[in-house]
Amino acid sequence: MKTTSSIISLKNVFKEYLLGDGSVFVALKNINFEIHQGEFSAIIGPSGSGKSTLMHVVGLLDKPSRGEIIINGKDVAKMNDNQTSVLRNSYVGFVFQQFNLLNKLTIKENILLPATYCKEKLDFDADQRAEMLMEKFGIISKKDSFPNKISGGQQQRVAVARALLMKPQLILADEPTGNLDHKTGNEIIDLFEELNKSENITIVMVTHEMEIAERTRRQIRILDGEIVNDNK
Ligand SMILES: Nc1ncnc2c1ncn2[C@@H]1O[C@H](COP(=O)(O)OP(=O)(O)O)[C@@H](O)[C@H]1O
Ligand SMILES: [Mg+2]
Repeated sequence: MKTTSSIISLKNVFKEYLLGDGSVFVALKNINFEIHQGEFSAIIGPSGSGKSTLMHVVGLLDKPSRGEIIINGKDVAKMNDNQTSVLRNSYVGFVFQQFNLLNKLTIKENILLPATYCKEKLDFDADQRAEMLMEKFGIISKKDSFPNKISGGQQQRVAVARALLMKPQLILADEPTGNLDHKTGNEIIDLFEELNKSENITIVMVTHEMEIAERTRRQIRILDGEIVNDNK
């Protein structure tokens, strides 16, 4: 279908945790995979299989114990912490199961938060972009409301808008429908589908619901920290 370049590539990635009793727990074992521009993928697997750990490594929130991470042709291991956080800010937007909105901020302020954290001058108007995203996601009438005054589905739309504010190459969503009822969850996936199809936004989503996973084009199955199937 496409011969697009890879955004991120993981080579022989391991993640190990040192446990209190001195033993080592291997949460990711020899992970090898690439994500290409424009893909819509699901990471599936039972609870505790390493899905969130993998998302954290892909999203540069956590470092692997071993292995290589190449983002847009650059080796992340060769970057310092500041360069890594600058890259993270521009390359990835996160969506979580619990929405992770700040209840003391309005909807609009929540969406603008990534721009507030960013130290560099932006090459676009964040305020205008926030307004555009709220309009598009049907939450513009809620812009001065607070997160605890709107529904779960609306909160997740706010979280998706916040994730998109900085024009990331990649959206990482960890169980984005896990706190939503069936219908509302499917509406969030409709939104992802639309963003992927019409704007070629790359999305990787963790889920343990097969019905949700089947709505993506690529399913990566993980079991006990290993990729056991990938229908790329
Ligand atoms: N900081 C940590 N220290 C020790 N073990 C951890 C840590 N984080 C995760 N784990 C373990 O790694 C495994 C994978 O966790 P996780 O990636 O959260 O799984 P999933 O998202 O698939 O449910 C689990 O067994 C979990 O207990
Ligand atoms: Mg998880």
